Amino acid sequence: MSNFTFPSGFEWSSATAAHQIEGGNWNNDWWAFENAPGTIAAEPSGDACDSYHRYDEDIALLQRLGVSSYRFSVEWSRIQPEATLVSAAELDHYSRVCEALLAVGISPTITLHHFTTPRWLAEQGGWENPETAARFGEFAAIVMARLGDLVGRVCTLNEPNMVASMGYRLGIFPPGRSEDVAAFDAVNRNFVDGHHRAVEAVRAAGDTPVGLTVAMQHNVAGPGGEEQARLADAGEDIYLDAARGSDYVGVQTYTRMVMGPHGWAGPQPGVEVVSTMGYEVWPEALGATVRRAWNHLDGTVPILVTENGIATEDDDQRIRFVSEALRSLHACIADGIDVRGYTYWSLLDNFEWVLGYRPHFGLVAVDRSSFARTLKPSGEWFGRVIAANAVVD
Ligand code: GCO
Repeated sequence: MSNFTFPSGFEWSSATAAHQIEGGNWNNDWWAFENAPGTIAAEPSGDACDSYHRYDEDIALLQRLGVSSYRFSVEWSRIQPEATLVSAAELDHYSRVCEALLAVGISPTITLHHFTTPRWLAEQGGWENPETAARFGEFAAIVMARLGDLVGRVCTLNEPNMVASMGYRLGIFPPGRSEDVAAFDAVNRNFVDGHHRAVEAVRAAGDTPVGLTVAMQHNVAGPGGEEQARLADAGEDIYLDAARGSDYVGVQTYTRMVMGPHGWAGPQPGVEVVSTMGYEVWPEALGATVRRAWNHLDGTVPILVTENGIATEDDDQRIRFVSEALRSLHACIADGIDVRGYTYWSLLDNFEWVLGYRPHFGLVAVDRSSFARTLKPSGEWFGRVIAANAVVD
């Protein structure tokens, strides 16, 4: 019997995103960004994991893991390839994915915007344009009209704070702008508006639970880093506050960030580093961010861990990392925090944005030329955790 048994009904899940696994996802700003001459992207997403065609293989693996839900994104640029064009065929595709999941008892969680914006919208200013919020609300209504009866949960936006900071402050996401503070502020405002419009659309379609996800790291003040730690939390708080009134808030945590006077101070001496990502191996960050989200929202919004994981070639390290993260999450629950579930990022080794295919977060390895899937020992172990509803050795 494990000392770390989770509540009955606790939701175990895994997650992916369309652009990172489907392949051939050419009609959005990321495809343009990663294929542009002189791009900083390590490589193009290309065929990704060919999950657009091989989703049955992915679902068979999810069934083997025993997850109760699967979080994936529906690609806006497939469903609405032009401003005035909605593809019934692409809505049918995602309906088939949802039906295949339901057929094996897995509840679909769909993300409406996971970093990628249709080219036609990006050409109109993307999320810097306040009109985009209205377009997003309309898109949510289109999706819910077709898929509303099939999905168990909706995530409106995935990590909008990352899109705003990476795309408009650091220049490593589309549109690749650096230190454009005015645009950064506008994008945040428009994302918050977009979330609320999408929530309205989802709720107009029925009673499917809806929320958004926030990239939250354990931001800690190092010497002289108090202001930078506060600013880092403040960037997350914009979206924690946007989740007030939503059915849940998705916490997505990977590491601890020790802040110095000018921002992240880098990995601290003696702390192990996730070699392909450059940040600290710090699994207990999850407990810290879940507590901060819960406290910031005064215990009024249920928490879902919608992403947590590690990119590593050492599968035993993945097991150790997730074990520690789950123990820190278990302590939150023991202290009365309403945590509904845990999602491992990611089901598959996939396209890690500007870093390409080198970081391997997956419970499942994917051969880059044959697309053959191979469940890793850490995946077998995660399946045992799910079966026991507890942290196991
Ligand atoms: C994110 C995205 C994922 C990443 C994951 C690992 O949170 O950045 O949702 O697409 O792949 O976080 O970095």
